[in-house]
Amino acid sequence: MPEPIDATTFDRLREAAREAAQLAYAPYSTLHVGAAALVDSGVVVTGCNVENASYGLTLCAECGLVSDLARSGGGRLVAISVVAGDGAPLTPCGRCRQLLMEHGGPELLLDAGEEATPVPLGVLLPGAFDTEMLEERRP
Ligand code: THU
Repeated sequence: MPEPIDATTFDRLREAAREAAQLAYAPYSTLHVGAAALVDSGVVVTGCNVENASYGLTLCAECGLVSDLARSGGGRLVAISVVAGDGAPLTPCGRCRQLLMEHGGPELLLDAGEEATPVPLGVLLPGAFDTEMLEERRP
């Protein structure tokens, strides 16, 4: 029986994301980012950003989270919080919206902060290219 997703879920995920942000390796931008998500299995996966001297190779926090998802047995992401080092929610970059879409779909709920309603990923990335489209269009 999957747990209900409510304000408590997001409080918990925000706290885990804040902890992950503490572990970020971001000497170039100095923007620490942490991400934490609830998987439909009940597992919580996390990630932090890891930068590189060759700036373009930077791994966003969401990249680490998706890797943690695979490592911990996979499943679908159902709720996620991404925060900066100041502890407040951060909106995922375009590339990470696509990454999250693959593993959570348009219903994945994104934390918008204590005072706001979570936003479905489909609102942030409408008309996303997905595996279904890939199957349909492959020659
Ligand atoms: N960053 C993330 O980790 N996730 C995002 O969705 C936005 C940006 C990181 C990448 C880089 O280390 C720093 O924030 C500044 O762009």
